[in-house]
Amino acid sequence: MEARNELASEAMTISEAELSDAFRLIASNVAVITTSGPHGCTGTAWAEDPRSPFVVTPLNRSGTTRQIVVDTGRFAANLLAANQADVARRFAKRGDRFDALAYSLGSLDLPLVDGAAVAIECELESSMEFGTYDLLVGRVHSVKRGPSVGVLTWCDHSFGTHAPMERRRA
Ligand SMILES: Cc1cc2nc3c(=O)[nH]c(=O)nc-3n(C[C@H](O)[C@H](O)[C@H](O)COP(=O)(O)O)c2cc1C
Repeated sequence: MEARNELASEAMTISEAELSDAFRLIASNVAVITTSGPHGCTGTAWAEDPRSPFVVTPLNRSGTTRQIVVDTGRFAANLLAANQADVARRFAKRGDRFDALAYSLGSLDLPLVDGAAVAIECELESSMEFGTYDLLVGRVHSVKRGPSVGVLTWCDHSFGTHAPMERRRA
């Protein structure tokens, strides 16, 4: 318990500049989190174990997308493909993000972005507040695989893609 408290007080002395310098090195996938409307914003999504059919996404509490997800109880995580950085930029800005965008509606009536590496529709299972964000947990309802062209990534304020250093044996 004491060790935990020590860590907590140490963390409180870390400046915003230091945190920013550390956090920018956290590489992530790039997803468009879509909701009914249609609405959506650029974000990220995490999942790990297929025995646990949940997808987690952090959304800013002051954002419109988080509010609609909470109100409607559903979201889709569209994991963007390596050639979709323009889609990621569009969904991070104001304006009609769906204007001339190719998409279809999934079985939960959520927008699934054409060309995404994979689009996963979820029903909202749970949410947790942390800082200025909510961590939203969705139970997977449907999965739509897209073209195999590699995934878009974000690290150090830049878009990139995953470059495997070794192939996993089948
Ligand atoms: C690469 C990238 C990743 C982002 N990740 C997130 C994220 O995980 N959560 C979030 O709330 N906003 C994230 N944003 C910012 C939102 O896309 C942006 O604030 C958007 O305008 C929010 O729209 P909304 O008000 O419709 O929710 C990210 C932006 C970029 C470019």
